[in-house]
Amino acid sequence: MGRDVVAILGARGMLGSDVMAACTQKGFHMRPYDLPEFDITRPEQLERAIRSADAVIDCAAYANVDTVESRRDLVHRVNTEAVGLLGRIAADGGKWILHFSTDYPSPARRPLNSRFNCDRIQECLDKPIRPWWEPLASFLRQL
Ligand SMILES: NC(=O)c1ccc[n+]([C@@H]2O[C@H](COP(=O)([O-])OP(=O)(O)OC[C@H]3O[C@@H](n4cnc5c(N)ncnc54)[C@H](OP(=O)(O)O)[C@@H]3O)[C@@H](O)[C@H]2O)c1
Repeated sequence: MGRDVVAILGARGMLGSDVMAACTQKGFHMRPYDLPEFDITRPEQLERAIRSADAVIDCAAYANVDTVESRRDLVHRVNTEAVGLLGRIAADGGKWILHFSTDYPSPARRPLNSRFNCDRIQECLDKPIRPWWEPLASFLRQL
């Protein structure tokens, strides 16, 4: 597998721009994708993005807390359906993916800026949930 071309989806987002900067600093050649010129819900665009790189970091998400409840169809297409397709296309092409999952859509109503309680997920997995930067570092080491 090539070592240096990484497609980053949602590259202009909060997480995407930090990941982009961190990976660029590490010497990876980053290929950024984001709205409006790239839409993860468009299969042909997603396929092209995945084919363009050796690995994909998916930071794209519908994460607008103010509208997430009223735009459930779109949220589902972006945060669920597109992610499934991303996995299938990448598996077919033998590409590595690092996907950051989202807790949207979620029926839970929490106060703004509250922390997501991971206790039950941790209980089910029977292992600690690592902070996001640890799997990212391990992903980059394996490229
Ligand atoms: N921020 C964190 O600290 C953090 C930590 C751990 C995990 N996460 C997870 O990481 C993901 C990204 O979070 P974030 O805070 O970076 O959110 P964000 O700032 O809203 O970034 C998401 C990016 O995805 C783009 N996007 C939305 N719909 C898209 C589509 N159809 N096609 C392509 N790109 C699309 C957004 O574009 P627009 O702005 O134009 O809509 C935006 O640039 C979420 O799943 C979140 O739960 C975030």
